[in-house]
Amino acid sequence: MKMPVESCHVGEYNILEHTDLGEGWFRIDIDAPEIARETRAGQFVQVRVGPGDDPLIRRPFSVYDVGPEPGENATEIRLLIQKAGPGTEALSRLRKGESIRLMGPLGHPMPVPDLKSPAAMFLVGGGIGVAPLYLYCRERQKEGSTLPLKVMLGARRESLLIGHQGFQDLGIETYLATDDGSAGHQGNVIELLDQQLGSLSEGTQVAGIGCGPHGMNLALRDIAVERDLEFWISLENYMPCGFGACFGCVIAGPSDGPLRYRRVCVEGPCFPAKELPETF
Ligand SMILES: Cc1cc2nc3c(=O)[nH]c(=O)nc-3n(C[C@H](O)[C@H](O)[C@H](O)COP(=O)(O)OP(=O)(O)OC[C@H]3O[C@@H](n4cnc5c(N)ncnc54)[C@H](O)[C@@H]3O)c2cc1C
Ligand code: FES
Repeated sequence: MKMPVESCHVGEYNILEHTDLGEGWFRIDIDAPEIARETRAGQFVQVRVGPGDDPLIRRPFSVYDVGPEPGENATEIRLLIQKAGPGTEALSRLRKGESIRLMGPLGHPMPVPDLKSPAAMFLVGGGIGVAPLYLYCRERQKEGSTLPLKVMLGARRESLLIGHQGFQDLGIETYLATDDGSAGHQGNVIELLDQQLGSLSEGTQVAGIGCGPHGMNLALRDIAVERDLEFWISLENYMPCGFGACFGCVIAGPSDGPLRYRRVCVEGPCFPAKELPETF
């Protein structure tokens, strides 16, 4: 198997913008042409979070966007980050003009299914899981794809729904769900997906990609298996190295195959839902 790390760059890069988005979210735009050119949606970078070797372990972040546009003219990568602990706290304090140490791109790009009309391609994001889905949409638009994308985003409340405006600005059908009903459907994003699946006309070819918290990913896997849908789930397991060396990110192999462990960083992070065991 070709390891994604074979084409990965490691270096120190300049921060072009650092934007506070409120509620612990922020965005970092980084001048990193060689990473930006080669990154495809679903891939991630490993970020050194401190100025020295403490903390030693890098933190993984999906590439949220590349600028000015995806492809060979891209010169910058954009990360969308939510504060979770000391590493993301340190990254939130960086400023424009400072440097950041990155390794990437890592992992495999998200798949692009070939669907015959009538079709629906669902992109389901929970919380910070929204991050890789935006670049996916930008890439499809750049290549003039006719894949009928439907974005569904869920969060606890409206102020935690970050990034939905970006999809709407691209003209993509976007549906929202919040636990407290402050925006969109009151309930979780899987209920919303269930409703949408039920409203499709007979014969519609369905595929989808989901990325979200563990509970959302489990529910998405169950729906995909029960209804025999071509869904993929992008996992955000802890990744101490990000390039296959430590086995710190493994999941058990498919439930119907011999038990084997799969490294999420080099075999994923996106896996066919049907290959994921009932608990992962
Ligand atoms: C492939 C991949 C892509 C990711 N993309 C993004 C992204 O685009 N934006 C973003 O904000 N975050 C993303 N994450 C999650 C991010 O890596 C973690 O939030 C970060 O490492 C936390 O570091 P910390 O030092 O701030 O917190 P830590 O001290 O490491 O953790 C703080 C809290 O968060 C929990 N936590 C930390 N990492 C994870 C994890 N991977 N899964 C579940 N719980 C966790 C811990 O249990 C703890 O409660 C991604 C993770 C992976 C594996
Ligand atoms: S993070 Fe080290 S093997 Fe995956």
